Amino acid sequence: MLTEKTKDAAAHSAAASHGAAPSADLVAYFEGKYVALGDAKVSIMTHAFMYGTAVFEGIRAYWNEDQGVLYGLKLREHMERIRRNAGMLLMTDLPPVDELVRTVVETIRRNHFRGDAYVRPCFYKSGLSVGVRLHNLAHEFVVFAIPFGNYIDVDKGVRIMTSTWRRNADDALPARGKIVGGYVNMAFQKTEAELNGFDEALVLTPDGHASEASAANMFVVRDGVLLTPPVNDDILEGVTRRAIMELAGTFGIPVESRSIDRSEIYVADEMFLCGTGVQLSPVTELDHRPIAGGAIGPITRQLHEAYFAAVRGNDPRFMHWLTEIPAR
Ligand SMILES: Cc1ncc(COP(=O)(O)O)c(C=O)c1O
Repeated sequence: MLTEKTKDAAAHSAAASHGAAPSADLVAYFEGKYVALGDAKVSIMTHAFMYGTAVFEGIRAYWNEDQGVLYGLKLREHMERIRRNAGMLLMTDLPPVDELVRTVVETIRRNHFRGDAYVRPCFYKSGLSVGVRLHNLAHEFVVFAIPFGNYIDVDKGVRIMTSTWRRNADDALPARGKIVGGYVNMAFQKTEAELNGFDEALVLTPDGHASEASAANMFVVRDGVLLTPPVNDDILEGVTRRAIMELAGTFGIPVESRSIDRSEIYVADEMFLCGTGVQLSPVTELDHRPIAGGAIGPITRQLHEAYFAAVRGNDPRFMHWLTEIPAR
């Protein structure tokens, strides 16, 4: 059975997506201190606010009810990525990865969640300076954490459409960089899909290959082989994408990373999206063409169940993905 939903968390995530004020008791890391989330405020002259000059991560923490433990998922991998991406924006003297992981763990811990959570670390250009550039600007590191559930119904599968908005090319605004300003590209894609009655977008590269969804990587199954676009097809190099590859390896499912044509998806046996937000979401339809007969295919189902067991700390083979958040 495909089940991975909590009503409370879904309500929280709905509130978050409609701009509700953050709950007063949440704690954030801001300017080197842990403060009330509502007090973590920046000037309207902040460079990152004016020009999108920031890099961020989205991380999930999963609550295991039976164990009474909250697990942070792939914290080190996310902190390694944000540190590399901050360097892309010419931020220097960055804290080591271990220190960044410690700050994320401490931010989560101080919120005393007893349910799933979402964590948002960000390095941003904090200088109060008009003038678009990357050099000679100060930066800061922030982390906030909120209760969070699934924003896509993973039980049902998603219907997607090919976006008319292409993914920003690597030589224009690298998707690999998880750069805040770049997410306007993703916003065009997501909004176009939703306003047209779909759940998500299939986004193509400038040369017409399948890249990813608006904010998730993609896999298709053809003849028992799991295919995913390569890192040079303008994707974000997803942490979940790698995790799925590891899971597939465990089950002996062959994985190939190569460019995928749009029409290959029309004739594919199965498709799913993966990412911190969507987790692992089966795709049942692209451009009104059913995939896997409009149902959830066997390989997708197998990976889906294995993924949720792993992230919640219910599979001893994948405990290395998880960091236990201290309770006190
Ligand atoms: C554009 C984009 N692609 C893919 C992903 C998936 O990456 P990850 O698995 O690291 O969350 C994300 C973030 O969730 C994203 O924003």
